[in-house]
Amino acid sequence: MTTTARSASSDVKDLSLAAEGRRRTEWAERSMPVLRLLRERFTRERPLAGRRLSACLHVTTETANLAVTLQAGGADVALCGSNPLSTQDDVAAHLVKDHGIKVFAIKGEDHTTYYEHIRAALAHRPDITMDDGADLVGALHMIALNRLDDLAPPVRQWVETLSGADRKALVAGVAGSTEETTTGVIRLKAMARDGVLQFPVIAVNDSDTKHLFDNRYGTGQSTLDGILRATNLLVAGSTVVVAGYGWCGRGFALRARGAGANVIVTEIDPLKALEAQMDGYRVMPMAEAARVGDVFVTLTGNTHVLRVEHMRLMKDGAVLANSGHFNVEIDLDSLKQAAQGPTRVREFVEEWRLGGKRIFVLADGRLINLAAAEGHPASVMDMSFANQALAAEHVVQHARELTKDVHRIPRELDAEIARLKLAAMGVTIDTLTPEQQKYLASWEMGT
Ligand SMILES: NC(=O)c1ccc[n+]([C@@H]2O[C@H](COP(=O)([O-])OP(=O)(O)OC[C@H]3O[C@@H](n4cnc5c(N)ncnc54)[C@H](O)[C@@H]3O)[C@@H](O)[C@H]2O)c1
Repeated sequence: MTTTARSASSDVKDLSLAAEGRRRTEWAERSMPVLRLLRERFTRERPLAGRRLSACLHVTTETANLAVTLQAGGADVALCGSNPLSTQDDVAAHLVKDHGIKVFAIKGEDHTTYYEHIRAALAHRPDITMDDGADLVGALHMIALNRLDDLAPPVRQWVETLSGADRKALVAGVAGSTEETTTGVIRLKAMARDGVLQFPVIAVNDSDTKHLFDNRYGTGQSTLDGILRATNLLVAGSTVVVAGYGWCGRGFALRARGAGANVIVTEIDPLKALEAQMDGYRVMPMAEAARVGDVFVTLTGNTHVLRVEHMRLMKDGAVLANSGHFNVEIDLDSLKQAAQGPTRVREFVEEWRLGGKRIFVLADGRLINLAAAEGHPASVMDMSFANQALAAEHVVQHARELTKDVHRIPRELDAEIARLKLAAMGVTIDTLTPEQQKYLASWEMGT
């Protein structure tokens, strides 16, 4: 039975899923020891007491553990999804029912509902925002710059009901923000460069304990997981084309090779291309790779990396997936113009007919690891979300000194997260002897 779950303070699919969401969130928590330690400290010290925090994140079991940690720190949390397909409905129900967190997210929500939920997170009037892809901060800036035509209709209609002073107060009320992903950070740095950034932002993605692990090992494993859950294809012996050899691409190429694929990398950066070549992959332009690949995966953060001109060259039955943040890496609009379809073959798999060949697109070109699988494993999100929690605390503690720019989390905090993670894994390391410290600090000693 569906117990409807729409109210002023939440919009989730079905509250009767809460027990399942709680069990799965607790399972994830077992692999999040660093966040657990932070939650214990936040419960004692309440560093976010009295703060309203709006988060636009993938609503997964790991995010639930972050939301509960922020709440333990004293924050009044509102949460909306950062992708229409990534919400885990049982987790959303659990947060509403068991923690009273204001959640606005439903898996498979349409474009209007997605932005209706962004509106709800903004209407929470946050002191702090937390983004994965800069959708909240983007909307706040369109309001600040009075570019209401650039807002999605549900947000624009709401903003139009606010007075000028109220709109100003909404933006001025934000002491600072945090950003989870590469694509969001790129946008925010562009805003800072153009002198329009209205408040300081902590680029959580720039922490070493985030991108070195989450982007590489998290995206690497979960992207393969998503493709396999969607298709059940055999990887061994297939040719997998990886577009982009950044942190995510490196991780995915490694996992695809580990599962037995022949991996081809495409790049536009000569340094990354050289690295891929020396890591033992074949490197070539997409127009060449298109002829030989069986599975194509984009992880670039760029737009229209896979275009119809490439698709026309592909083998019959080629499979296309994206794991970059936005669904623009595969040019689906042009495919829709040029091809017949789609026919739904199985969940998350659509078949298009292009010049007598079949092209299979997974999850509408949206993040395959979050749409068809469960996103990153909790153990890696432990570090990403420890960064998020510490970044929120940092914003509160340093709001006055932080300039309206994109900052990274202090290196000592980044190193502390690595230290705690190692301790939780039972790994100990050496420390410098006084002699070594002196040696490393000196320049006199030579051959
Ligand atoms: N799926 C997930 O859960 C997840 C997790 C983290 C990051 N992301 C997203 O994945 C994307 C990549 O993130 P990253 O941290 O690896 O970024 P990155 O900057 O480290 O790497 C991106 C790479 O793509 C390359 N590239 C750009 N345009 C290209 C093109 N046309 N063809 C081939 N290569 C091209 C760049 O040269 C770069 O090496 C971003 O959108 C990021 O937000 C997704």
